[in-house]
Amino acid sequence: MEGQRSRNRKSAKRRRAQINEQNRDAKKSKSEPSSGSSFLEKMKARLSGGHFRMINEKLYTCTGEEALDYFKEDPSLFNVYHAGYQAQMSQWPEQPVHKIIEWLQVRSPSLTVADFGCGDARVAKSVKNKVFSFDLVSNDPDVIAGDMANTCLDSSSVDVAIFCLSLMGLNYPNYLKEAHRVLKPSGWLLIAEVKSRLDPKTGGADSNKFIKAVCDLGFTSVSKDFTNKMFVLFHFMKQEKPSSKRKEIAWPELKPCIYKRR
Ligand SMILES: C[S@@+](CC[C@H](N)C(=O)[O-])C[C@H]1O[C@@H](n2cnc3c(N)ncnc32)[C@H](O)[C@@H]1O
Repeated sequence: MEGQRSRNRKSAKRRRAQINEQNRDAKKSKSEPSSGSSFLEKMKARLSGGHFRMINEKLYTCTGEEALDYFKEDPSLFNVYHAGYQAQMSQWPEQPVHKIIEWLQVRSPSLTVADFGCGDARVAKSVKNKVFSFDLVSNDPDVIAGDMANTCLDSSSVDVAIFCLSLMGLNYPNYLKEAHRVLKPSGWLLIAEVKSRLDPKTGGADSNKFIKAVCDLGFTSVSKDFTNKMFVLFHFMKQEKPSSKRKEIAWPELKPCIYKRR
């Protein structure tokens, strides 16, 4: 009898020891990478995320010309930037480029479009219109490389100018002046920007001052959409006739968009 009780106590002790060991392993596998390769993957993702944020900050704190030189020195940085940018975008509930594509798709395909800061030229790939796609680096035969402050387009030659999260340079007014030059009278200017850059509550600029500056350049404000959590979308139309009065335009400073670590 006593022998049986002792055996039962020993086997209960063994079971408790086994359970404790299993619990320890489970905790360990949650806090540590399960294999060398997944640990490396995590480290690589962390490094490239950091690299993306560094390039992103650079683009928001220099002029377009400086950004062009930066990528000329090492064009591979452009791919690092865009891989990181797409990873960020995949977390957004809605992407502004899709809103712009939807807007174009319900309009005449005969409208000629200029996509300023086109990235991977998603607009050109998604619509039937003739699209001139501009960016600092071209990895695609349809993308024209250069600083979008000076494009190869003729004056008054396009119907729609797009800036989708691309007013990055310190000299962003120059990009809008270039859009004004190349747009036909009554042509459309579509601007999507990161909301925090145009929201005083988050240290951003006053959106009304931004709209006023664009209007002073020679546009009429048609609509502003603040309903999206992540971005704002403006529609402007180029005025038929340039204003006879030349005035100094008070462009608000647009702060950099700093993406969070994920
Ligand atoms: C945030 S990404 C957006 C890309 C694309 N519009 C989209 O929505 O997917 C901004 C793009 O603008 C480009 N860009 C910024 N400044 C530029 C400049 N001065 N000239 C040409 N492209 C510029 C960047 O290289 C980058 O590809």
